[in-house]
Amino acid sequence: MKNDEVMNIAKKRGFLWSSFEIYSGSAGFFDYGPLGAILKNKIMNKWRDYYVVREGFYEIESPTIMPEEALKASGHVDHFTDPMTECKDCLEVFRADHVIKEAAGEEVEGLENEELTDILKDQQICCPRCGGGLSKVWSYNLMFQTVIGAKGKKTGYMRPETAQGIFIPFKRLLRFFRGKLPFGVVQMGKAYRNEISPRQGVIRLREFTQAEAEIFVDPRDKTHPRFAEVADDTLTLYSREKQVEEEGPVKLFAQQAVSEGMISSEILTYQLCLAKRFLDDLGIPDEVIRFRQHLPSEMAHYAIDCWDVEVETDRYGWIEIIGIADRTDFDLKSHSEHSKEDLRVFIEYDEPKTVRKLAVKPDMKKFGPIFKGDSPKIIKALEDVEASHVEKAFADEGSFKIEVEGKDYELSPDLINFEEKEEITRGEKIFPHVIEPSYGIDRIIYSVLLHTYTQEGERTYFKLPADIAPLEVSVFPLVNKESLAKNALHIKDCLRKEGIISEYDSSGTIGRRYARSDEIGVPFAVTVDHDTLNDDTVTIRNRDDSKQVRVPLSDVYSVLGDLVSCKTSFRDVEAEYKKVNS
Ligand code: GLY
Repeated sequence: MKNDEVMNIAKKRGFLWSSFEIYSGSAGFFDYGPLGAILKNKIMNKWRDYYVVREGFYEIESPTIMPEEALKASGHVDHFTDPMTECKDCLEVFRADHVIKEAAGEEVEGLENEELTDILKDQQICCPRCGGGLSKVWSYNLMFQTVIGAKGKKTGYMRPETAQGIFIPFKRLLRFFRGKLPFGVVQMGKAYRNEISPRQGVIRLREFTQAEAEIFVDPRDKTHPRFAEVADDTLTLYSREKQVEEEGPVKLFAQQAVSEGMISSEILTYQLCLAKRFLDDLGIPDEVIRFRQHLPSEMAHYAIDCWDVEVETDRYGWIEIIGIADRTDFDLKSHSEHSKEDLRVFIEYDEPKTVRKLAVKPDMKKFGPIFKGDSPKIIKALEDVEASHVEKAFADEGSFKIEVEGKDYELSPDLINFEEKEEITRGEKIFPHVIEPSYGIDRIIYSVLLHTYTQEGERTYFKLPADIAPLEVSVFPLVNKESLAKNALHIKDCLRKEGIISEYDSSGTIGRRYARSDEIGVPFAVTVDHDTLNDDTVTIRNRDDSKQVRVPLSDVYSVLGDLVSCKTSFRDVEAEYKKVNS
């Protein structure tokens, strides 16, 4: 299986391996080795290039530990759960929907616990480990809990998504963006989910890296000003309807997907296209990528529409690597309610409007005797209060409470009158909607390795695009002779000074060295041979077709610089120097 070959090389050659191996490991944790860490950083920097540099979003960094009240507001404390079942004999725990899928082939994600319990019972599904009976299903919260502070009085959680770190400081971000929609904010970093017995290697991690963009938009305008740039991109779309009808996905132009209503908005479609372009740039082929719309039963508690970008794998089938959701105003509204901070945005109308409005009118004569010298400031504070809030408080609680300069005052209905007024309004306050592309960086790295892995006879290599390859250039003396070795070592040092990540290798035959370099995806190799000593030229070898071109040493650094940053192609370099040499 390709998965096993790739993971073997990944482990052996320093890309990634299971963590804590000498202590028998712990499922759901992976280390990035020396090459894996560079690959990961390069992919993350490419993501920054897409979203920060080109889209003009800004990156922030917030803590990975969050207080309980924030995650209560976001819905994660109550709803971020998976259905769990326990073996009554061996006490191992399992995700109930996964056990059912494995045993009966049924897709049951999103069913209620009672329904899952019934299926386990009716179909006599047993413990996959020991064959024992399984318990009834209950909801298990996926967040890692911790305590904040030495006395451990405050409950905290490791963040389950980076997104919340963007919603919470929304007021400050809005000020940074001068109060105007739309704007985008991104965050890259670790997120944590204490998965129930993960058995899918790097696919289901308990600690993983996300790259998320939260794009705040006016809910009445989900167009995209640069939609024309992606309108002709093609997308393989597996809509809700096609899944229900058990038909396959369809290939549509982005423009068609919007006009036929398959995707709910231009802005969501634009994000799907951007994701597709990003994956193309990482070398993941078109035919293994599809966009699958969430069925209502599998949608997260905050979303109204969500498309997963899925990649096909031989070991795990189609796996989600990116989720692109319309989160509506769920998060901001909820944080507003829980924190009592107004997280709305003032939207200016094209033309001011005259509206009839109910206004609060304090009965001045009654205020003085009750509140004495405090009356003017209470009356002033009432100017900013919505009449509807006061009416509601009177109806629900019989009085309206107001805090002024840290002191609470209770106003009974006889102190307040209401008056209809005509007002010119320039706009209104609304909660923005949020469009969210959420990238699972670890799964993307796995997909890149899996789908760039190439086998040609004995030769295997990762066909990594040059600008994400962890090592960029290998430098070899043709044979291990001091004069050649000295030259090659010098070239390697000069390449490093030029910012090109290069390694020197002189051990074994030149064929073995090319094979070792190819195996880890180094895109180019420079070989120093006897001619180098006479004419100051070296060969540059291209990993993908093993072709070589002779280039003067004086040019080699700039040529390789252009090659490893994908500013030029090997074919162009070959054409250029063949011309010079002929
Ligand atoms: N922010 C979306 C997710 O974590 O799945």
